Amino acid sequence: QSTTSDNVVWQNHTVTREQRQVANGHKPVVLWYTGLSGSGKSTIANAVDIMLFERNCHTYLLDGDNVRHGLNGDLTFTDKDRVENIRRIGEVSKLFVDAGLIVSTAFISPFSSDRKMVRTQLTEEQFVEIFVDTPLDICEKRDPKGLYKKARNGEIKNFTGIDSAYDVPVNPELHLKTDGLSVEECAQVVINKLLELGIID
Ligand code: PPS
Repeated sequence: QSTTSDNVVWQNHTVTREQRQVANGHKPVVLWYTGLSGSGKSTIANAVDIMLFERNCHTYLLDGDNVRHGLNGDLTFTDKDRVENIRRIGEVSKLFVDAGLIVSTAFISPFSSDRKMVRTQLTEEQFVEIFVDTPLDICEKRDPKGLYKKARNGEIKNFTGIDSAYDVPVNPELHLKTDGLSVEECAQVVINKLLELGIID
């Protein structure tokens, strides 16, 4: 939940969002990737980010590595801390959108209420939810960090998909079924969606 400080007055900026949009040549947006650990969120988000960068878009990628080690370094994987993780990432994303960027976020973001909270802080066209739908058994087979094995052995508690919930997105802007697609093919599907939505041209 946002807090409002007494005696703090909101400053309107002189450079408007519209001016930034014209200068950047694209609309600002949050590409909110959600999915299980090992589903490919970061890999796909990174591939899309490269494609957008090559189109001269102004982009930034927020993912677990640069956020959970820094800004959210104090948070664990309890439900309460996951809620706070997503709340802070939502706030940061909003600032990036204000700056006119295409910001990609790659977090499990398991709770639909949190994803909805971020969505409601932005306009309808500023939030694109991308469900990276890779079945649990495939994520578990990949197990790039060996975490599923540890979760199954009880060495890690509250692991998403094992003993912590993942709410499947009901109406995401993009439902990306990754099975059988390469990273590049997945990334191209996202780019096509952005073209269709008129975010890039
Ligand atoms: S969340 O749920 O959105 O707050 O999680 P997120 O910030 O995206 O962090 C997920 C990455 O942290 C590693 N990890 C865990 N994931 C899920 N559950 C537990 N208990 C856990 N502990 C550590 C895991 O490697 C996730 O990485 P990704 O990139 O998603 O595979």
